[in-house]
Amino acid sequence: MERALSLDKKSSWKKLQNHQARLAKTDTIELFRQNPKRFDEFSIQHREILLDYSKNRIDTPAFKELITLAENCHLRAWMDQMRAGHNINHTEKRPVFHIALRAPADQEMITEGRNVTPEVHAELDKMEQFVKRIHSGEWTGYSGRKITHVINIGIGGSDLGPYLATQSLRPYWLNEVELHFVSNLDGAQLALTLEGMNPETTLFIIASKSFSTLETIYEAQTAREWFLETAIEHEHIQQHFVAISSNVDKATEFGIAPDNIFRMWDWVGGRYSLWSSIGLSIALCIGMDHFRQILAGAHDMDEHFFNSRFERNIPVILALIGIWHRNFWGHHTQAILPYDSLLHLLPSYLQQLDMESNGKNLKRNGARAHYDTGPIIWGETGSNGQHAFFQFLHQSDTIVPVDFIASINTHYPLRDHQSLLFSNLIAQSEALMKGRNLDEVLENLSPESPDYDHQQLIARYRTFRGNTPSNTLLIDKLTPFNFGSLIAMYEHKVFVQGVLWNINSFDQWGVELGKELASKLQRDLLHGKHVEDHDPSTTGLLKHYIEVSEKR
Ligand code: F6P
Repeated sequence: MERALSLDKKSSWKKLQNHQARLAKTDTIELFRQNPKRFDEFSIQHREILLDYSKNRIDTPAFKELITLAENCHLRAWMDQMRAGHNINHTEKRPVFHIALRAPADQEMITEGRNVTPEVHAELDKMEQFVKRIHSGEWTGYSGRKITHVINIGIGGSDLGPYLATQSLRPYWLNEVELHFVSNLDGAQLALTLEGMNPETTLFIIASKSFSTLETIYEAQTAREWFLETAIEHEHIQQHFVAISSNVDKATEFGIAPDNIFRMWDWVGGRYSLWSSIGLSIALCIGMDHFRQILAGAHDMDEHFFNSRFERNIPVILALIGIWHRNFWGHHTQAILPYDSLLHLLPSYLQQLDMESNGKNLKRNGARAHYDTGPIIWGETGSNGQHAFFQFLHQSDTIVPVDFIASINTHYPLRDHQSLLFSNLIAQSEALMKGRNLDEVLENLSPESPDYDHQQLIARYRTFRGNTPSNTLLIDKLTPFNFGSLIAMYEHKVFVQGVLWNINSFDQWGVELGKELASKLQRDLLHGKHVEDHDPSTTGLLKHYIEVSEKR
């Protein structure tokens, strides 16, 4: 009975509301005083990743109730369904099986009645061969010269994953090729990337699962035009354009040789695809061995996720803490703050992963969810953020839960940079949690000080609210293996939250309307037609564009 009820009607929901009301009267620092073992209880280590979630305003009874809520939402059954390759993406009638992309060769991964592991590993082997040929110079451009530059053209999941991975794993670059990413439709990004490049030594990877994403296809066509200006012969395209797509017909139509099309499967969503051949640019950059280590790290996190009980399960804990913040404390956003410049793209990556997955208000049965779902994800590297928006985190009335992320051992041990950086992270998480009240400020004032009166006057400005919740994720070192685990950890967190909110985390209908309107508008713009058919704002903007546009 309980299990059939809507999330907000379950008995745990009411109990959690009561826990929130109770805990709202207790500062987080007080929870540490009450329970000296709090860090041990609310932290967990899996291999080289430590999660400390003790700085959240939660205690044992509330945490246990969150676990009960997860159980009553059939979480284990949903996890089993994912692992068994069932069609859990019901609106697109597809399984969600990116976990198969990182399973070892001897593990059967069955979906839709067949074991996909051999196909997945055949594709990995094909990638490996390709990478070898590019690196060794066996694969040449049309004039016989070695490929020196690679441009990945793709957007969303066909860009962010490889871009993040290659930036994060900078110490592993082999420097066999110079890699670039083009995703934005504006001419600037492509034009600037192509500046000074030689078509004879440049390879384009057209990464698009659908091979019909407007931005990617338009950019690919422009790249092809640029290439043919020099190469002239269409047949040369084959040595300079490869595709990663599940739409083989469209990629072939574009001029790409069938052998040069790397396969994707319908059961891999764009934002879950860096483990697939979408990772080709990663492998070209850091080598296939390192790419396989990324997969191994992700697989290891899968095993942890599927085999650990909820209380000791990092993705489940992160998901439940997120639900605690969103649904019981009403926090609308979540900041991702990596104290590591190599992870500077992590906030953008997680923005797509989380917001495209859980930014939805319709439940699986099509009814409206009458509770909040996915939060706004945003962030920036530390300590940069400290000099931008941390003022807001400390003293505004809007509470933003934070994920602090750092690697302990740097690949770049320069003087004491690392310990200084780490001290900053810890100082911030501590200050956000403890805050500082007026008495503490006043206690530190000295009546002998020449500006004592002024100091008294501004004492209130020096108080801090405190009680800002945070998780801290510490990674021993940012290796390919740990990188894979970290990303898989967030993927599963998002999945768990989707299960509890009873939404389908794996479709993205919300991006369709804008796409439809954009192509119609562009046709109209080019021909100056139907400009009056819109709302007055849109018509006004179109007219202004036409008037000012230099193309006229
Ligand atoms: O933004 C919508 C979306 O479909 C994303 O989910 C996806 O990652 C991106 O577009 C790119 O899609 P494709 O790989 O098919 O070009």
